Amino acid sequence: MFEDIRREAENEINSAKDMKSLNDLRVKYLGKKGIVSQLMKKIKEIPPQERKEYGKSVNDLKSFVEKLLSERREQLEEEEKRKLYERLWVDITLPGARRKVGHNHPVMKVWREIEEIFVSMGYEVVEGPEIEDTWHNFDALNTPEWHPARDEHDSFYFSDKLLLRTHTSPVQIRTMLAKKPPLAIISPGKVYRRDYDATHLPVFHQCEGLYVDRNVSVTHLKFTLEEFARRIFGEGARVRLKPSFFPFTEPSFEVDVYLEGYGWLEILGAGMVDPEVFKSVGYDPEEWSGFAFGMGMDRIAMIKYGIKDIRELVRNDLRFLRNY
Ligand code: PHE
Repeated sequence: MFEDIRREAENEINSAKDMKSLNDLRVKYLGKKGIVSQLMKKIKEIPPQERKEYGKSVNDLKSFVEKLLSERREQLEEEEKRKLYERLWVDITLPGARRKVGHNHPVMKVWREIEEIFVSMGYEVVEGPEIEDTWHNFDALNTPEWHPARDEHDSFYFSDKLLLRTHTSPVQIRTMLAKKPPLAIISPGKVYRRDYDATHLPVFHQCEGLYVDRNVSVTHLKFTLEEFARRIFGEGARVRLKPSFFPFTEPSFEVDVYLEGYGWLEILGAGMVDPEVFKSVGYDPEEWSGFAFGMGMDRIAMIKYGIKDIRELVRNDLRFLRNY
């Protein structure tokens, strides 16, 4: 009889699903009217010589049930804890949820690279205003009234005297007015012209260069540009100067670079600083000489990254920009 009760208790208690059913089982077995109490009461009906044995069996049953209950209780508590931890568990070895960060625009990359190259050669980076007056943008650069760059149809004027600068060359003037020679500067920035097609934007980026010292010659200019071309395009890059004209340089050159697979590409205008320009900033042209150049940074980015249509640079299409 005791064996049957034990087996029954063991089955029931071990399969109790939660604390509530476990508690019901405690009442069923150990409660005032529970099975164990009922058995205790029956002791009177047991013949005296068997009572001791009987009592012991009931007590054993009682402790057996108590043990079962407390073991099952522990199990249920463990399970509850485990479920809670499972819910709270975080895999700390997973990479964090990173916010996507952007990157520099291809023109900005080239801009930074140009700065690094010239800074490493001892040049200083200076800035100038994008809204210029006609004196800095034209007159001081020996650019007379009749020059087509001064035409309303080629420039953006605010008034007779103010316009969006059409090149970075006015920074040459601002620099020479502010500093004494010798000097070496570059000046990257935005410039504005009334152009818009596959190879021209109304807003584009130039980097001006100006080097002033005693006894500066075309040789210095050519070496500087060759060194620059090798650094930005690679060792195979070659440079050629073609005669050209700018009012503020004499002689003047168009400068091409040779790139394997592309041939000759025009990337900048350059020349020896015109004595008239030195005069307009109060430098003695007999004592000082120098070279200047102005390069198109958008053009350089297009060559460097193989971009066919300059307008891609301003479409703001991330599918395009993500490639660079
Ligand atoms: N300012 C000229 C241009 O925009 C480029 C240039 C700069 C040429 C310096 C000679 C010297 O076309």
